[in-house]
Order: sequence, then C-alpha cells, then structure tokens
Amino acid sequence: MTPPEHYGPVVHDWPLVPLPRTDFDPVPHRLLHEEPVARIRLPHGEGHAWLVTRYEDVKQVTSDPRLSRARTVGRPIPSTTPHTLAPPGGVGRADPPDHTRLRRLVAPAFGRRRMTVLRERTERTAGALALRTLDAGPPADIAETFVGPLSATVVAELLGIPAADLGRVQEWRGGLLSHDTTAEEGESVKKEIAGYFAGLARRRAEHPADDLVSELAAARAAGHLSTPELVSLAVMLTLNGLDAVRNIVSTMVYVLLTHPDQTAKLRTEPGRLPRAVDELFRYIPQRGGVGMPRVATADIEVGGVTIRADEAVHVFYPAANRDPAVYNEPDRLDLGRDEAPHLAFGHGAHYCAGAQLARMEAEVMLGTLLTRFPGLALAVPPDRIAWRAGAVNRGPETLPVTW
Ligand code: HEM
Repeated sequence: MTPPEHYGPVVHDWPLVPLPRTDFDPVPHRLLHEEPVARIRLPHGEGHAWLVTRYEDVKQVTSDPRLSRARTVGRPIPSTTPHTLAPPGGVGRADPPDHTRLRRLVAPAFGRRRMTVLRERTERTAGALALRTLDAGPPADIAETFVGPLSATVVAELLGIPAADLGRVQEWRGGLLSHDTTAEEGESVKKEIAGYFAGLARRRAEHPADDLVSELAAARAAGHLSTPELVSLAVMLTLNGLDAVRNIVSTMVYVLLTHPDQTAKLRTEPGRLPRAVDELFRYIPQRGGVGMPRVATADIEVGGVTIRADEAVHVFYPAANRDPAVYNEPDRLDLGRDEAPHLAFGHGAHYCAGAQLARMEAEVMLGTLLTRFPGLALAVPPDRIAWRAGAVNRGPETLPVTW
C-alpha cells in the first residue's frame, strides 16, 4: 500500500508575515486550538523543532530542568532571525549553575531599593516629557516624543550609559532586532556593541558610579563573571529596555485609544491601572515569532506527545496567554480580568529579569498619559497607523495622537 502523502510526522511551516495592530499570528493561533504540541519549520535554521502553545504545557516545558539552553549553542535550530540574538555564555543561553550565578549578579539592580529610586525618576521624567509634548501642541507622535525617550532614559540610568552614547546604541538596536539583518551584519553589529560595553565597563572599573555596569565591572574584578558574560548581560538589558518597552507601551496606548469605553472606566478609577497593565501584557502579542529554543536532554512527555532527547523545543508565550482553558474569551481585552497570571514575561528559571521594571514603566507612562492628556485620541484613523515589519518586537512605527 502506498503511504498517504503526509506519511510521517506533519511539519507545519510558520512563514512569519508582518502583522499589523495586535492581530494574532494565525499559525500559532491555529496550532493552539488544533495541535498544541506540533512540529514546525521557521524561515531560518535547519529541519524542524517542536512548538508548544498551551498554557499548562508552556509552564511545564519552561520549568523542566531537562530542557537545556546551553545545548542550543552551535546548532542550526529553526529560528525567527538569521543570526542568534543571544551570544553563547549569555544569560539566555546558560543553564545552572552558570545561569543561577548570572541571575544573582543582576538581581539587586531590579530589587526594591533600586526600583523605588527608578520609579521616582521615571515619574519625574514622564512629567517633564508630557509637559514638553503638551507645550509643542497636537498632533504628536507619542512613541517618538514620550514612550521612546522615556524608556531610553530609564535604561541609560539603570546601566549607566552616558546620554551622548544613546544614539549609537539605538542604531545597534535597530540592526540587531530586525528579521532582515543577515548573519554577517548581525555578527558585525554584535562586535561593535560588545566593544562598546567592554570599554564602558573598563571606565566604570576605574571610576565606579551607582549603576549596573559599575556593579558588573566590580563582580568581574572579583572573578564572579567573565568579560563576555558581562557584555552579553549589558547588551540583553539594553536591547530589552529600549526596544521591548518602547514597542509594547506604544501598542498599549494604541489599544487603550481603540477601546474607549474600557479606557474611560480606567480614567475614573486609576487604582485599576496595575491590573489593566497586566491584562495589556497578556493581550498584546508582543513578539514577532519565537524567542530562544530549548533542547531536550531526555525523552519528555508534553501534552501527550513524546519529545525525544536532543530535539529542539520552542514555546510561544503569546499563545499560552490566549489559551481558552485558562482565560474566558481569551481573544477579548478585559482590563478588569483576574483569572491567572499571564506568561508574557516567560516562566521558570529564564523568567524575564526586567519584568518589574517593564511593569513599572508601563504603569508610569500610561498613568501620566491618562491624567495629563484627558482628551487623548488617535490623530488618524486606526487603519492609517503603520506597524513595524520584520521586527523582533512588534509595535507601531509612529503613533500620531491629538488631545
Ligand atoms: C517590556 C516588555 C518585556 C517583555 C514582554 C519581556 C519578555 C521576556 C521574555 C518572554 C523573556 C524570555 C523568557 C524565556 O527565555 O523563556 C525575557 C527574558 C529576559 N528579559 Fe524581558 N521582557 C520585557 C522587558 C525587559 C526589560 C525592560 C528588561 C531589562 C532591562 C528585560 C530583561 C530580560 C532578561 C535579562 C531576560 C533573560 C532572562 C534569562 O534568560 O534568565 N526584559 N523577557
């Protein structure tokens, strides 16, 4: 008997087309409902990998120590970008005990004391930027005049990047966080940025200041981490602080302005803001494609499927955030929702190191906009807004608003 054409395991192509607004990527959405543990092919890398989309399965995979990040190094695993964003030795590609050591080194930077100081400064800067935008008069591109500069100031403050260097860092960010950057271009940008942070760390080792690069430089001098580890931590924190925050908070503003009834309620009850911010993190599919994979070190059962030792596994957190087994009407925004913690910041040992910072920035920015701009509205019809294409972090190119 001739086997049917799909004889053998079905592998789904995930072509990664640019998506506007907060439209959910149709491939992982379909797989979440039809085949929650599926084999996929992506535009880059070789062969196939597993894609896990359901909430409980994603939690299982990301908390199982038998799935390794270190084992991804040097393997052409299917991926969203032609170059690997995270260098070997970086926090995202390390397993315990290296991973635990690196996370302990950055933890104080996001501790309560630092966060209180940063929140005060963020509020002050937000107030000043809001005033400047108000003075210049409508319309304004709020991503460019408010969200972008604020997230850049916060990350510069956290790491100790001199303001004069931010322009250069922003250019590197554009080069690295694009799906279109070739492997060679990616490598050359990574070299430049590595040289920059190695230089900054040298200067801070001689003249320490109250910032994270100074702390990491001291830890390196004490033998607690290597120069490549220091550089990769600094790069990861900088890129996330600049790109992820700018894009998701701009998208949050867009979502609020296109859901006026829910936003009106939020204005009258500002105490609901923290919960609303978490619902926005759940609802917005921030990531274009998947992040870093994991490699199984043993045969593992996930959602009734056996993943064999040495196979690569991707999770897609935005899909887990839309799992109907966990969220009632998951594709609907509900700023008062209180069902289960979302997975937008990941889960398990690699849970986002900057989650508290990102939450704080989003709260301060949205809170400031809602109170200082009572008549805030989009300055153009929603379908005229251009959305970034081929970017790791999705978001609006510009966000023209009026008030
Ligand atoms: C603004 C929205 C942000 C979102 C949605 C986000 C989301 C995530 C996700 C999904 C992961 C990966 C989890 C995994 O590997 O399984 C991650 C990791 C990470 N994020 Fe964020 N992040 C954001 C902002 C930030 C900020 C502001 C920083 C720091 C300034 C940051 C620093 C990191 C670091 C260092 C890791 C690696 C953690 C590890 O591998 O142990 N992120 N983030």
